[in-house]
Amino acid sequence: MPIATFSEKIAHTLSTIKYGENPPELYEPIRYMMDLGGKRIRPLLTVLAHHLFEDEVDKVLMPAAGVEVFHNFTLMHDDIMDQAPLRRGQETVHEKWNANTAILSGDVMLVKAYELFFGVQPVHLPVVLKLFSRCAAEVCEGQQLDMNFETRTDVSIPEYLKMITLKTAVLLGFALELGAVLGNASEEDRKNLQEFGIKTGIAFQLRDDLLDVYGNAAEFGKLVGGDILAGKKTFLLLTAMEDANEMHRTELKNWLGKTVADPEEKVKAVTAIYDLLEVKAKTETRINTYFHEALQHLDKVNAPLERKEYLRALALSLMERTS
Ligand code: IPE
Ligand code: IPE
Ligand code: MG
Ligand code: MG
Ligand code: MG
Repeated sequence: MPIATFSEKIAHTLSTIKYGENPPELYEPIRYMMDLGGKRIRPLLTVLAHHLFEDEVDKVLMPAAGVEVFHNFTLMHDDIMDQAPLRRGQETVHEKWNANTAILSGDVMLVKAYELFFGVQPVHLPVVLKLFSRCAAEVCEGQQLDMNFETRTDVSIPEYLKMITLKTAVLLGFALELGAVLGNASEEDRKNLQEFGIKTGIAFQLRDDLLDVYGNAAEFGKLVGGDILAGKKTFLLLTAMEDANEMHRTELKNWLGKTVADPEEKVKAVTAIYDLLEVKAKTETRINTYFHEALQHLDKVNAPLERKEYLRALALSLMERTS
């Protein structure tokens, strides 16, 4: 089956989900957010992990959709926290409506995600709910650390890596482990797939940090420079801080501490320091390292090589993504 067929099945499943009607102010933003699309990689990870062990795709589509609904809930709330104006090239929900709307619509999406997981075979339900609940709490822990770091100036790269593992990577790990559980995989295969997801997820967030500075605005669909303006402690910033000489470090700190009338000027100035210190290439090197570590876990999974190839190719495409 070509990978496009899996993606089409996921898109179709997502299009059939009913979120609710009344009051429309609660449900309309959910449909708006879900209709913006996105790459939908997490449900694809679930389906492809399941496909390693079983042929029948259909029974995994609803829980896979649950992962995507949960992801969109995290984005809706994340955009409030990050004061982001754009998502997938369109206005964010809190901008188009308001923050209260984005909070409550997001809440219902989390509930909807649970409902979609309830459809799994009863024998799998306890483990799925346990894994999902832990993952969801970890995403919140990561998001809190991300916000804590905004006002700190002494964040280390290991602390950063822990933070992105929680806010981003564990969900990719869960998406894969879910597919493995539903495919009745062995404990060892489950763990290797989860680890493959976590390493891929760390590389994925590093790429996200990189695109936030060096991405093409139209393709990326988010405000380029947003992390610099929000004072985010990204891999790029921490690497620059570590590698800068006294003069450049002072310059960087001055820019970061400044409230400017012209945000573009600040983004340009910080990016110029990044360029000087070659942080783009350094981030790409680190992405590569995590990608290769991820593949070592995929290699260990006991499944046909040609089926694992889908996951390898997908992970590779994420390392090179521009959106
Ligand atoms: C965005 O995730 C949030 C991060 C973890 C960086 P995606 O890049 O998967 O967003 P969509 O769903 O494709 O828009
Ligand atoms: C993504 O972090 C983490 C979650 C949404 C949980 P970002 O804040 O970097 O994601 P984007 O860049 O807004 O998509
Ligand atoms: Mg954000
Ligand atoms: Mg964020
Ligand atoms: Mg980002």
